[in-house]
Amino acid sequence: MRIYDIIAKKRDGFELTDEEIAFFVRGCTDKSIVDYQTTALLMAIYLNGMTDREMITLTNEMAHSGDMLDLSSIQGITADKHSTGGVGDKTTLIVAPIVASCGVKIAKLSGRGLGHTGGTVDKLEAIDGFRVSLSPEEFICQVNEIGICVTGQTGNLAPADKIIYGLRDATATVGSIPLIASSIMSKKLAAGAECIVLDVKAGSGAFMKTLDEAKALSQKMIDIGKANGRKMAAVLSDMDTPLGKNIGNTLEVIEAVDVLKGGVQSDLTEVCVVLASNILSLAKAISLDEAEKQVRRSLSDGSAYEAFKALVKAQGGDTSLIENTDRFKKAAFYREVPSPADSYISSMNAETIGLSSVVLGAGRKTKEDVIDYTAGIILEKKTGEEVKKGEVLARLYTNNADSLDESERMLLSALKFSKEKPVAKPLIYDVMR
Ligand code: URA
Repeated sequence: MRIYDIIAKKRDGFELTDEEIAFFVRGCTDKSIVDYQTTALLMAIYLNGMTDREMITLTNEMAHSGDMLDLSSIQGITADKHSTGGVGDKTTLIVAPIVASCGVKIAKLSGRGLGHTGGTVDKLEAIDGFRVSLSPEEFICQVNEIGICVTGQTGNLAPADKIIYGLRDATATVGSIPLIASSIMSKKLAAGAECIVLDVKAGSGAFMKTLDEAKALSQKMIDIGKANGRKMAAVLSDMDTPLGKNIGNTLEVIEAVDVLKGGVQSDLTEVCVVLASNILSLAKAISLDEAEKQVRRSLSDGSAYEAFKALVKAQGGDTSLIENTDRFKKAAFYREVPSPADSYISSMNAETIGLSSVVLGAGRKTKEDVIDYTAGIILEKKTGEEVKKGEVLARLYTNNADSLDESERMLLSALKFSKEKPVAKPLIYDVMR
C-alpha cells in the first residue's frame, strides 16, 4: 500500500477502505509517512469530506494509536463531558463536582486554552499547588476514592490525533466536521468513560459559528460514540456571548466557586444545570426532571461545593483559596471600561472579547506563551442589558499596564449598542440524545 495512492484516491472523491485509513494513521504516528503527505491527505479530506464509515474508522484508529484507559476497576458508572470550547466557559469546574456529588464517577481529562478560548487545566492551575499531571494509576485511584478526578493528559492517549491536530492547525484544515468529530471523539474513547455528554457551542466565540454546523457536528460525534457502545448526549448552547461574567483563569475559578456555593442564578448556572442533568439522566437511567432535582439539590445543600473542595485537596491544591476566594492573588493593574452612551447592548462578539482577555495576559497566542493567571475581564453588563453613559461595562485586570489600552479598544469593538431592547436569544438551543 502506498500513501501516494491513498491521497490520489481521496483527492478524486473516492471512499477509503478501513485498511487504507489504518495504514494512514499508523504511518503518521510512527512517522513513516512524512508530514507533507499527511497534510495533503488532510486537505483532500477537508475538501471532499468522509462517509460515516470512514469517519468512525479514522476515530477508532486514532483512539487506538496509543494507550486506551481501562476504567473497569472503577466501581460504578463513569462519565465524562466535553466542551467544544468558548469564552468564559468554566462549566467543567461546576458540572464535574455536581455530578460526582450525585454519585456518578467523573473521570475527566481536560486541555489547555489556545487563542480566544480558555482551557480547564489552566483554570485549575490558577489554584496554588493543584496538580494537573497524574499517572493513569493515580487517576483511576482518585476516581475510586473520591468519585472525581480532573487532570490534563495522562499516559499516551491518541498520539495520532496530537500529530494530526498540530498539522491541521498549521494548514487551514481544522474546520472540517469529520476531522473535528474524529479528533474529539478519539480522545474521549481513549479516556474510557461510559457516558459522554458533549457541550457543543454555536456562535461567534465557538468553532461552529452557526447552529446548523453545531448540530451536524453533534450528530457525528453521537454516532461515533454510539458505534463504540458509549451512552451519548449533546447539549447545544450559545457562544455568541461569553458564558457567565468572568473571563480569565483565577477570575473564572472564583465565579465557579460562587455558583457551587449556591444562590447564583445566571446563564452559567443554567448551562451547568442542563449539562449535569443530562449526565445524571444518562448515567443513572432516570428522567431529566428527576436528574435536575438532584442537581439543584446538590447546589443548594453544599454537596457540589464539598465535592469541588475534595477534588482540589486530592490534587494538592490550596483549599483555603476556595473557602475564601479573596485570598487569590490579584493583578497589579485594574481599569473600568465605561459605557459610551445611554443604550442597550444588542450583541457581543465573544471571540473578540476572548482575544481582548488574551491581550491582558489571560491566554496564549501560541502554545509557548506563559499565562498570567490573575489577568482577565469581569463583564458587568451583557447582551440585552440597559446601560447608562459612563456606567461600568467591564473591569480589566492585568500585570502588564501597557496592555490596558489595546484590551479596552478591542472590548469596545466587540460590543454593539442599540436604542431598542434586543430580542432575547435562547441560551440552550437543543439537546440531542
Ligand atoms: N478540539 C479538538 O480536540 N479537535 C478539533 O479538531 C477541534 C477542537
